[in-house]
Amino acid sequence: MTTYDTLLVEQRHHVVYVTLNRPTALNALNTPLRRDLKQCFTDLQADPDVRVVVITGAGRAFCAGADIKEWREPTSVVEDREDRLRLNFWQAMSRCEAPIIAAINGYALGGGCELAMCCDMRVASDQAHLGLTEVTLGIIPGGGGTQRLPRLVGRGKALELILTGRHIDAPEALRLGLVEQVVAHDQLKGAVEDLAQTIVSRAPLAVKYAKEAIVRGLELPLTEGLKVEAELYTLLRTTEDRMEGARAFQEKRPPQFKGR
Ligand code: CAA
Repeated sequence: MTTYDTLLVEQRHHVVYVTLNRPTALNALNTPLRRDLKQCFTDLQADPDVRVVVITGAGRAFCAGADIKEWREPTSVVEDREDRLRLNFWQAMSRCEAPIIAAINGYALGGGCELAMCCDMRVASDQAHLGLTEVTLGIIPGGGGTQRLPRLVGRGKALELILTGRHIDAPEALRLGLVEQVVAHDQLKGAVEDLAQTIVSRAPLAVKYAKEAIVRGLELPLTEGLKVEAELYTLLRTTEDRMEGARAFQEKRPPQFKGR
């Protein structure tokens, strides 16, 4: 596996575990970390063996957002554009075909909360705190927060959270639908590994196409989304794995999927 200055990356049984590794800065997104995340997701996209990606943070935070200490002077328009082109890990993540799980082990604030929302599923430790704090710093969420949060929790709650910048704890995040599961802090790793391995045990193409159908469908009117589903469903009807699934069911044994 490629190594990165600010990330720990390991692969086990088709799952890649990506750990943001700036614990003394609560994994704040500085330029090297943003560059590494972009490169890492570009590399993962090229690896057919990767079936699930898990992102977490080293130490007591998931990610405390943009590195505020890098903000020394106002950014020029050109710098901002160049930054967005060079360091746009959001786009690299959104091109990832494998499902991405955020294992939220602590603070997920600002860009850190947006990083979690850019993932496909979120499992939080009961010690996690989430929030879009940008208005407390004179900006608005710029990593997708104003768009992804209302899609997850609805317009009114998104406005309340973004306009106040308040932190919420993990049980509130669960009630709002901002995270899918909350587990005891010391069980986070195991719970996420179980979820990842369950997904890995399913038919690889079916998993990939299910994510594609959901992600593409959410951008479309229902009738168009249903066409995307029908197109992908038809493709899966031609696969060896579909026949293996049916045989395994009738022979009362676990299926041996091949991803074909
Ligand atoms: N950028 C840079 N450094 C950060 C940081 C950040 N976002 N968050 C924490 N740190 C650093 C602290 O400066 C501190 O470093 P030093 O030991 O060198 O002083 C270290 O991490 C530990 O942090 P604290 O001492 O503050 O720890 P705490 O437990 O008292 O508080 C916290 C934790 C509530 C997360 C607090 O650190 C905090 O509020 N951080 C800022 C969170 C935030 O608002 N992030 C949003 C940034 S804007 C953004 O993200 C926009 C975008 O992407 C588009």
